[in-house]
Amino acid sequence: MACKTISFFFFCFLFISIDSISSQQLSDTETDCSKRWIHIRRLPSRFNLDLLTNCSEYPIFDNFCPYLANHGLGPKTHNKSQSWYRSNPLLLELIFHRRMVEYPCLTSDPSQANAIYLPYYAAIDSLRYLYGPGVNNSMEHGLELYDYLQDNEGWIWSRNHGADHFLVMSRPALDFSQSVDVNPPIWGTSFLELPEFYNLTVLIVEGRAWPWQEQAVPYLTSFHPPNLGLLESWIKRVKASKRTTLLLFAGGGGAGSSPNIRRSIRNECENNSLSNSSDVYVNNGGGHDYYKMRKVCDIVDCSNGVCEHDPVRYMRPMLRATFCLQPPGDTPTRRSTFDGIIAGCIPVFFEEQSAKSQYGWHLPEEMYRDFAVFMPKEDIVFKGLRILDVLMGIPRDEVRRMRERVIELIPRVVYRKHGSSLDLRARKDAFDIAVEGALQRIHSRLKARDFDQ
Ligand SMILES: *[C@@H]1O[C@H](CO)[C@@H](O)[C@H](O)[C@H]1NC(C)=O
Ligand SMILES: *[C@@H]1O[C@H](CO)[C@@H](O)[C@H](O)[C@H]1NC(C)=O
Ligand SMILES: *[C@@H]1O[C@H](CO)[C@@H](O)[C@H](O)[C@H]1NC(C)=O
Ligand SMILES: *[C@@H]1O[C@H](CO)[C@@H](O)[C@H](O)[C@H]1NC(C)=O
Ligand SMILES: *[C@@H]1O[C@H](CO)[C@@H](O)[C@H](O)[C@H]1NC(C)=O
Ligand SMILES: *[C@@H]1O[C@H](CO)[C@@H](O)[C@H](O)[C@H]1NC(C)=O
Repeated sequence: MACKTISFFFFCFLFISIDSISSQQLSDTETDCSKRWIHIRRLPSRFNLDLLTNCSEYPIFDNFCPYLANHGLGPKTHNKSQSWYRSNPLLLELIFHRRMVEYPCLTSDPSQANAIYLPYYAAIDSLRYLYGPGVNNSMEHGLELYDYLQDNEGWIWSRNHGADHFLVMSRPALDFSQSVDVNPPIWGTSFLELPEFYNLTVLIVEGRAWPWQEQAVPYLTSFHPPNLGLLESWIKRVKASKRTTLLLFAGGGGAGSSPNIRRSIRNECENNSLSNSSDVYVNNGGGHDYYKMRKVCDIVDCSNGVCEHDPVRYMRPMLRATFCLQPPGDTPTRRSTFDGIIAGCIPVFFEEQSAKSQYGWHLPEEMYRDFAVFMPKEDIVFKGLRILDVLMGIPRDEVRRMRERVIELIPRVVYRKHGSSLDLRARKDAFDIAVEGALQRIHSRLKARDFDQ
């Protein structure tokens, strides 16, 4: 670690603090650790922290150096902010690592562990294949890690053929599922296609339609409360917020002429005679229950990534909106789904792949009809179904109940700040639920295998 030069100050700081915490061995007598022991595999820094030093090497992607601050949470949105950061979703891998070192049931003995966490920043490492000099070698992504695991205390891996190992990937599986024999690749590395890693559990922000190793976990949002008081005061604000807009779409796309769901959304908002009038009376579900909306449609234009590190731009409109449209883009899922939930805005999905078939650990599948609206995108793009008609037809009481369910989900999709207060640690957040899920999956896989033999 080049700790002498100024530009490396941050990395050294991070490195030292991760190290010192893991040696502290947090002793939490309240915690029952049986079947929950995790060993953090020690990897050379070329597999994690060194990768951060190349944060400005991939200009076509983004320069993510500014967002490494605060252990990967990013810079605060303002000096006085305690919970809001300019977070870059790519850095979920770093944040997960930082949270793992304060996990209460760590063991330094791999043979005692129920699961082995690999602190490999897989998506950050993939940038050199996706956008850098490794583009023609993308079938090699991960092989260096595999070789390291075989050549160094190989028994840790081979004990269960890797079936007790897990890691995190902060980009969609589409970026890692290029078939190994397509060269040059059409898009993506072959990490998830390598037979060497078939037994691994991968926590990822978006899985494939037929996932094998992977389970989807929430995207990183910008809200990272450090204590229970701040989480609760945010939830209070969300509950009290006046919903003066019926629906909101925060995003880009849909500007071209080819028919797609984003284009349909723009058309409906721009051409609707209600869209520009102030004080519209909405009569959800008929009857005598009219209520006033200041706006029917709101579009926050996030083209060219202008929203990505500027949560104020979309969080304020989301707090004012009843429904947040979550159409698929390049891939079915979006970070915005989780921003919207945190704002208490009822999600509207147009594909099952956008959330329902993905985030089963955090947003249980059987709950969707209680907290989300679904309309197939084909019905809108090709069959003339109008989003406004569907949303205006939902009775007001039902809207209120759905919003209550959404608000109950907030703690489950938030990644709280590392080193948070104990009262907040008692509440399961996105990280806790992900780790619990990984342990359970590994447990059942090992059991199934024992049974086979
Ligand atoms: C950083 O990028 C340079 C230039 O592409 C490369 O030689 C080096 O190996 C990279 N470092 C890491 C840790 O990936
Ligand atoms: C925030 O604090 C930093 C350092 O204390 C200072 O340089 C900067 O001007 C402050 N920014 C604002 C907007 O107050
Ligand atoms: C990758 O391969 C293509 C075609 O074979 C070639 O044109 C390109 O220069 C190569 N890129 C790199 C970075 O080697
Ligand atoms: C995956 O596990 C099975 C046993 O369940 C084993 O036969 C196979 O070799 C393992 N694959 C790898 C790449 O370790
Ligand atoms: C919206 O208006 C534009 C321009 O008049 C037109 O091309 C488009 O078809 C309209 N869309 C809808 C949904 O009416
Ligand atoms: C509503 O306002 C926008 C922008 O001011 C304009 O582009 C659009 O044509 C207007 N729509 C209607 C139906 O008047």
